[in-house]
Parts: sequence; structure tokens; C-alpha cells
Amino acid sequence: MTTAGGKPPAASRVEMTEIVLPGDTNALGTIFGGKVMQWIDIAASVAGMRHSGGNVVTASIDGLTFLTPIHLGEIVLLQAQVNFVGRTSMEIGVRVEAEDPRTAARRYTTKAYLTFVAIDADGKPRPIAPLVPENDEDRRRCQDALARRDARLASRAARPALRDPRR
Ligand SMILES: CC(C)(COP(=O)(O)OP(=O)(O)OC[C@H]1O[C@@H](n2cnc3c(N)ncnc32)[C@H](O)[C@@H]1OP(=O)(O)O)[C@@H](O)C(=O)NCCC(=O)NCCS
Repeated sequence: MTTAGGKPPAASRVEMTEIVLPGDTNALGTIFGGKVMQWIDIAASVAGMRHSGGNVVTASIDGLTFLTPIHLGEIVLLQAQVNFVGRTSMEIGVRVEAEDPRTAARRYTTKAYLTFVAIDADGKPRPIAPLVPENDEDRRRCQDALARRDARLASRAARPALRDPRR
């Protein structure tokens, strides 16, 4: 699904379903935040790989807030979508819901914004297809992501640059 060289968010959208197992939980029987972060990273990276048609690395994750606990045995649903595409980077939003298997009731637990950079075989950033928003919701997400990107780039500019010793 491409639109004149670009791709709509729907072409790379990801839906991932997990179940909370005993090894994922703490002594209170609720899930470790790090486990949810791992699932968020995987769902978002698959969306990034689909959009960019190749490998991606996580460049940054914006502040994460866990709004409600997720319990042992609950079903976890993650939805990831590309919100914005720059030259080599993408912002991907992930929404996380928990589902009680006894009632099928779902509740919103977390959202996250991640930036992925598409990389070539040498680990260097590579250009990617532009994003083609298809509807008002896509356009709103894109506008909001642009504002967050400006804030990220300003914070990056304020940090000293680090180089990968292998590159
Ligand atoms: C991400 C990485 C490839 C960027 O390399 P770089 O040489 O700094 O790249 P550039 O300065 O050319 O920037 C490339 C793009 O990434 C974006 N970017 C780089 N660092 C970023 C950050 N911390 N947050 C958001 N965007 C970032 C730039 O804005 C640019 O976007 P654009 O091309 O869409 O305009 C490099 O920092 C890296 O390899 N980091 C480690 C990634 C990793 O291993 N992640 C796994 C977890 S450790």
C-alpha cells in the first residue's frame, strides 16, 4: 500500500496481543514496567520496519506513564502507528490496553512515543519513504508529533554529541 512513493500510517500499523505470565510479574502480582516497555519497543519497531522497509534502531523514548496496573493473567493489547516521518527517523505512537479475560472489559493503561532511525548495513541512518496521512486523525497525529520532534531536537542540541566508536 503506497501513495506516490509515500506510505500511509495504515500500511505499517501493528496490533500485538500478549498475556501476563507469572514470570512477568512482581510480588504484588502486577506486571513489571520493564516488560511493558519491551513489548512497546517491539510493537513500535515492527511498525518502523514495515514503514522503512528494513532495519531500525530505537533513538529515544519519551516519558512513559503507567496509568493503571496490569495483573497476572490479563490480556495486553498494543497498537503502534507511525505518526511522523522525517528524513531518516520516524515517531511511532503506541497505545496499551489491558483486558480482563473474565469480563472482556478493556482499560487504557499506557501510551508512549518512540523515535526510530532507519539504518543501513553499516549502521548509518538511511532515507525513508515519506508518510502520507489519509484522514483528519492521521493529520492531527502528524501535527502533534512535529511539535514533540521540535522539543526533542532542542534537547538533543543541548547535549554534547557522542560518537559510536565502531563507526
Ligand atoms: C540513532 C542513531 C543511528 C542516530 O545516529 P546519528 O549519527 O546521530 O544520526 P543523525 O544525526 O544523522 O540523525 C539521524 C536522524 O535521527 C534523529 N535522531 C538522532 N538522535 C535522536 C534522538 N535522541 N531522539 C530523536 N531523534 C533523534 C535525527 O533528528 C535525524 O532525523 P531525520 O533524519 O529524520 O531528520 C545513533 O545515535 C545510534 O546508533 N544510537 C544507538 C541506537 C541503539 O542502539 N538503540 C538501541 C537501544 S541502546
